[in-house]
Amino acid sequence: MEAFRSTLIKAALEARANAYAPYSGYRVGAALLTENEEVYTGCNIENASYGATNCAERTAFFKALSEGKRRFKAIAIAGGKEGSPEDYAFPCGICRQVMQEFCKEDFVILVTKTEQDYQEYRLKDMLPHGFGGDKLQ
Ligand code: THU
Repeated sequence: MEAFRSTLIKAALEARANAYAPYSGYRVGAALLTENEEVYTGCNIENASYGATNCAERTAFFKALSEGKRRFKAIAIAGGKEGSPEDYAFPCGICRQVMQEFCKEDFVILVTKTEQDYQEYRLKDMLPHGFGGDKLQ
């Protein structure tokens, strides 16, 4: 995991270039690390029917999940208005809930401006007392 921080951040910043955000101008890239240390990237994909928009994080998760991946270690997220990110982009509530479904509480979330400038959190800090499938058993 240690060595993967800069790889993941770089991949998130690169994925941001593919963001389709003509309505908000808020461009987001994400890079997700699987347990086997494969990287899946994603960007936000907006829609004229705004509710059909998909966040960058969920794009990355759904790409990986649809290829059978189920265990994840970390995600890097880079987002902001056009240009390089001026602030850290934190995952929205829906994306945190998707993380809750597939990740353990120590899942690492890197919110990044540049390769050198990032903050690191754990899922348990981003979604305390999260609701999970264990409650339904
Ligand atoms: N967005 C993301 O991609 N990830 C988040 O966690 C927050 C929001 C996108 C969705 C939309 O395209 C734009 O940012 C503004 O909400």
